[in-house]
Amino acid sequence: MRDDDSMLSEILRIKPTVLPADKQNACQKCSAIYLGFCGNGLCSSCDRAAWLVAERSRLINETIRAIPTHFRWASFDNPEMLLERVHPKSAVEDARGHVRSLSIVITGGSGSGKTSLACALLRQASADRNQPGKFVTAFDLAVARQQHPLGEGEAPTVEGAFEAPILIIDEIGSEHGRNTATQEVIHHRHNWARATIYTTGFSAAELVQRYGDGILRRVFEGSSVIRLGGTT
Ligand SMILES: Nc1ncnc2c1ncn2[C@@H]1O[C@H](COP(=O)(O)OP(=O)(O)OP(=O)(O)O)[C@@H](O)[C@H]1O
Ligand SMILES: [Mg+2]
Ligand SMILES: [Zn+2]
Repeated sequence: MRDDDSMLSEILRIKPTVLPADKQNACQKCSAIYLGFCGNGLCSSCDRAAWLVAERSRLINETIRAIPTHFRWASFDNPEMLLERVHPKSAVEDARGHVRSLSIVITGGSGSGKTSLACALLRQASADRNQPGKFVTAFDLAVARQQHPLGEGEAPTVEGAFEAPILIIDEIGSEHGRNTATQEVIHHRHNWARATIYTTGFSAAELVQRYGDGILRRVFEGSSVIRLGGTT
């Protein structure tokens, strides 16, 4: 019977397997030797890391494309422009601290910077959560529902608003007519705990009159409220 010492010296004599030269590759990023063929010259770890970076940038670009052209400048990475357009300026830093909230409500008078701030938050939330963001106005939802033919399922704009992982609903309370598309989107997103950023120029009392207190509770429950200038 061999003792432990002789077993150990046998193990130490085992030489590492040398791969045939045509199967060896050095990763172009970390120089690790890997086996097999990989089109971009990276080992599996670096390949995965590169994929994650590309996927993240694809998601952020998708979110930026969803933001109306007029507000594509809005980003916490360019706070100077936000600070010029959001009143009071202190709300910019305050809002940044709430980017991870499931529900954010931005209230304020016309021109106080609600939509600008909401777009910066959407962009940041999309980057932080690695999820795409969408933008609709309450007006868009009502018109989409009104114009969609009966019997042909849900209007695509409304369907998109139900399902978007992160969504801005701009100007809640300002839509015309009696259709309930905005209320339904609020209700559905609350049920499924989907991140939503609301803006409104209306007071809570006015919103209760428009939507009822059940819907308003779903907007404000557990939400971060950012009050900008000229709040009604
Ligand atoms: N692309 C832009 N170019 C120039 N000024 C801009 C731009 N986007 C926003 N602003 C200005 O920034 C300020 C805030 O605009 P923003 O639309 O965010 O306000 P708001 O509170 O959403 O207004 P409203 O209630 O009318 O929708 C306004 O004075 C607006 O004119
Ligand atoms: Mg606006
Ligand atoms: Zn590598």
